[in-house]
Amino acid sequence: MIFKILITTAAMAGISGVLALLLVLAERFFANYGECKITINDEEEFTIEGGSSLLSSLNSQKIFLPSACGGRGTCAYCKCKVHEGVGPILPTEEPLLTEEEMAENVRLSCQVKVKQDMRIEIPEELFNIKEFESEVDKITDLTYDIKLVRLKLTEPKEISFKPGQYAQLNSKPYNGVKESVSRAYSIASPHFEKDHIDLMVRLVPEGICTTWVHDYLQEGEKVKFVAPMGDFYIREDEGEMIMVAGGSGMAPFVSILEDMARKKSKRKMTYFFGAVTKKDLFYVEEMRSLEERIENFTFVPALSGPEPDDDWDGETGLITVPLEKYLKSHDDLEKSQGYLCGSPGMIDACIKIMKNYGMKSDRIFYDPFG
Ligand code: FES
Repeated sequence: MIFKILITTAAMAGISGVLALLLVLAERFFANYGECKITINDEEEFTIEGGSSLLSSLNSQKIFLPSACGGRGTCAYCKCKVHEGVGPILPTEEPLLTEEEMAENVRLSCQVKVKQDMRIEIPEELFNIKEFESEVDKITDLTYDIKLVRLKLTEPKEISFKPGQYAQLNSKPYNGVKESVSRAYSIASPHFEKDHIDLMVRLVPEGICTTWVHDYLQEGEKVKFVAPMGDFYIREDEGEMIMVAGGSGMAPFVSILEDMARKKSKRKMTYFFGAVTKKDLFYVEEMRSLEERIENFTFVPALSGPEPDDDWDGETGLITVPLEKYLKSHDDLEKSQGYLCGSPGMIDACIKIMKNYGMKSDRIFYDPFG
């Protein structure tokens, strides 16, 4: 009997699987949605051939929504409001949308397909995001697994961005990888050097874009990127800025601190940077030079696992250790702001500590990468 039930269940599962596959194939090869009109903010409109995602349809018109995961439905950056012309929320969107967002017609543009005329709403500032053509000016090893890539702009020739924002770099196919992907990297160069951007790219095992940068990208090569994106930038204020980063999370702070140095800011700033051993540590000299140029800036590097021959007499432990030590003896955390860039795990741990010691969650800003 049990055997019969198992066979029937397996057969039904198999049939539904085949039907689902047929539906996908039918949609891909036979669906013809014809021309669809997309109206944006009740002002602008364009007509495209239906059938693609809303994200790529907008891209085809040079309107770029942030899409750090390259349309895989994991980053939740590509949200916009779709007021008309869309079906119910998809299972792939649900985990990344809050109840309020759903009530306000917010959708993931990479998951929603254009099948009919649509009326959408996107923030005005997203119209400033442009596609740039550039040439690789220089590639420098910062550590054994982080490279600094300088891209000289060729078209347009200048960029405007807020220190802390990021760019989405488009990789090219290479050695068996047929696809081209788009990945987000914070801009490390100062915003007043407008003719180039610097990106810090850490090699991620099996990462399509990072492998391309580390093993295939050459100086002189032409590459495209889309920028500026993101809301990780300085909120002007009087309180102290407590910054924390690990690995290539260094990038936005270089841009932010260069801006502070240029403005001759007197704001108190403390920057904790975590690495495992000395060979993972970089930009220490640059940070020491910024300490000289910014009146109230202190750089605190920490090693979580220094090697005996690292000869390290600085802070040790995960970055949360010196951070907590500092916050414990701080008497004005309510007015301070937190700025964090690094792995989601590091960011969560730091936010928890910052909140425990009295920092307000709406004064903690972060840019996670995973
Ligand atoms: S592009 Fe990342 S979720 Fe849509």
